[in-house]
Amino acid sequence: CGIVGYVGHRQALDVVVEGLRRLEYRGYDSSGVAIISDDATLQTAKKAGRIENLDALLAERTITGTTGMGHTRWATHGAPNDRNAHPHTDTSGRIAVVHNGIIENFVALQAELEREGVEFASDTDSETVAHLVAGVLRRGEAETLADALRIVCRRLEGAFTLVLIDAENPDTVVAARRNSPLVLGLGDGETFLGSDVAAFIEFTRQAVELGQDQVVEIDRSGYRITDFDGRTVEGSPFTIDWDLAAAEKSGYDYFMLKEIQEQPSAVADTLRSHFQNGRITLDEQRLDPSTLREVDKVFVVACGTAYHAGLLAKQAIEHWTRIPVEVEMASEFRYRDPVLDRQTLVVAISQSGETADTLEAVRHAKDQKATVLAICNTNGAQIPRESDAVLYTHAGPEIGVASTKCFTAQVAAVLILGLALAEARGTKYPDEIAAEYAALQAMPDLIATTLQVGEQVRAVAREIASAKAILFLGRHVGYPVALEGALKLKELAYMHAEGFPAGELKHGPIALIEQDLPVVVVMPSPTGRPLLHQKMLSNIAEISARGARTIVIAEEGDELVAKHAAHLIEIPRTRTLLSPLLTTIPLQILAAEIAQLRGNDIDKPRNLAKSVTVE
Ligand code: G6P
Repeated sequence: CGIVGYVGHRQALDVVVEGLRRLEYRGYDSSGVAIISDDATLQTAKKAGRIENLDALLAERTITGTTGMGHTRWATHGAPNDRNAHPHTDTSGRIAVVHNGIIENFVALQAELEREGVEFASDTDSETVAHLVAGVLRRGEAETLADALRIVCRRLEGAFTLVLIDAENPDTVVAARRNSPLVLGLGDGETFLGSDVAAFIEFTRQAVELGQDQVVEIDRSGYRITDFDGRTVEGSPFTIDWDLAAAEKSGYDYFMLKEIQEQPSAVADTLRSHFQNGRITLDEQRLDPSTLREVDKVFVVACGTAYHAGLLAKQAIEHWTRIPVEVEMASEFRYRDPVLDRQTLVVAISQSGETADTLEAVRHAKDQKATVLAICNTNGAQIPRESDAVLYTHAGPEIGVASTKCFTAQVAAVLILGLALAEARGTKYPDEIAAEYAALQAMPDLIATTLQVGEQVRAVAREIASAKAILFLGRHVGYPVALEGALKLKELAYMHAEGFPAGELKHGPIALIEQDLPVVVVMPSPTGRPLLHQKMLSNIAEISARGARTIVIAEEGDELVAKHAAHLIEIPRTRTLLSPLLTTIPLQILAAEIAQLRGNDIDKPRNLAKSVTVE
């Protein structure tokens, strides 16, 4: 979910709605606002569906006031309808609350409130907070709204970021944070709150990150942060280093299309400054080199697209360092008692740095004394904060829900990590490392060349857009790419898509092949992996013989595969471990184009949200 809060000199409604628009990638099941109007009454408006629905509702009303907040929802408790849209209010209509996360003990809290005679207006866990805070204030147990919120927070279990306003305290907004992110924006005579700086980037670059288990009170002149017990704590101020243009579409119809094109710079910026004086530097790390030397096992934990970057990390790290690597979906990790100790390095890959499944995996790893390195695209997010070290991807803000440039930046980052481990353990000579790094630095240009296949891929998309399913095949590093291609298609086009290791096909999935079924094949290099290339040719022959329509992604000049391909998409030649940085690109374009042909919103696919802060 996305959260915005404001107190200042502007019309709060305008600031809040604009902020919600920029946070809509975090959830779009419903949206809503609450404003303290000039006559000190609480005005709320909320609506299921996209922000346009809220706009239509607001067009019928005039709400003026300079204190307010808003919410854009990814539904957890309660169906995505008007009644469950945030903000929620207490019975007297004095307090309004918006919430991101899940309050795990809400059933008990709700029962307690119902015994006191409270009638609930929604099916959400969030509404309990409005009633609890109102009760504390009514009974005189707290003097200020912030005091009341601190008292209530001590009773809440689970993950929550909360923002509250109180009609009887019209010039302040209060908020609390546990797990889900929250940042403050500091302006001149105005203060902002947002799940992400995008909410207020238009107005200020000065921001403050709120820590875990903290409460903040904002007014026109600034802020005060405390822990849940009321002790004052310092926030972490930072300056936002990207501008409004980065958060806008700049002429593209969708953010995703812009982000696909931004991949050369996403990878170049991620690589920058990691190779100096002939050595790999993980410059943002707080790991001492002896820790890297002693690592005897690596786990990669991640979700969704980041998990596919993890599968590629395994290939590179094992090949370069001989350290065994396991890759695990973060949501499975801590529930199955993985074998971890002080010599285990756990690599948590997360674009947002706030995915709850990955965060909990990190916490489990730390409890077991493993060393945790985060690979993250969001400065100061919770996962890097709780990790021992962090390697940032510098892809810039990614707004499209389906990840593209952050994926390629993650792949670049895991390759840097692989080289750093190889260097620390001496499994590669310095000149080999230098040569790998030089090859990596050539990738942004090769990605730019690969992007030129766009028109050809879109033509293929038009031909197969109405297929009932599409299969993706790869082997070795091509297999995670096949999985990523299938995931993109599911996310964006809502089509049945599966990625398989091509050699496994004959052991079952080949039964799915029927006349004209589109099958996308990611070919290994004929020169880099000749044996595998040969096997892959046989795999293609097996499916072509059964009627599959093959769309083959192959290295330029691969003449042997040409005769097996209904469509051949050629990409530049590079080292095998680096090739996913190229082979992924046509698959991203294919999924985006098919989705557009099917009339889908590719930035906001149905049922999804970009960062999922619940387990
Ligand atoms: C969500 C998104 C996916 C993303 C995954 C992991 O499910 O819809 O696109 O890959 O989260 O996100 P993270 O921020 O941890 O990389």
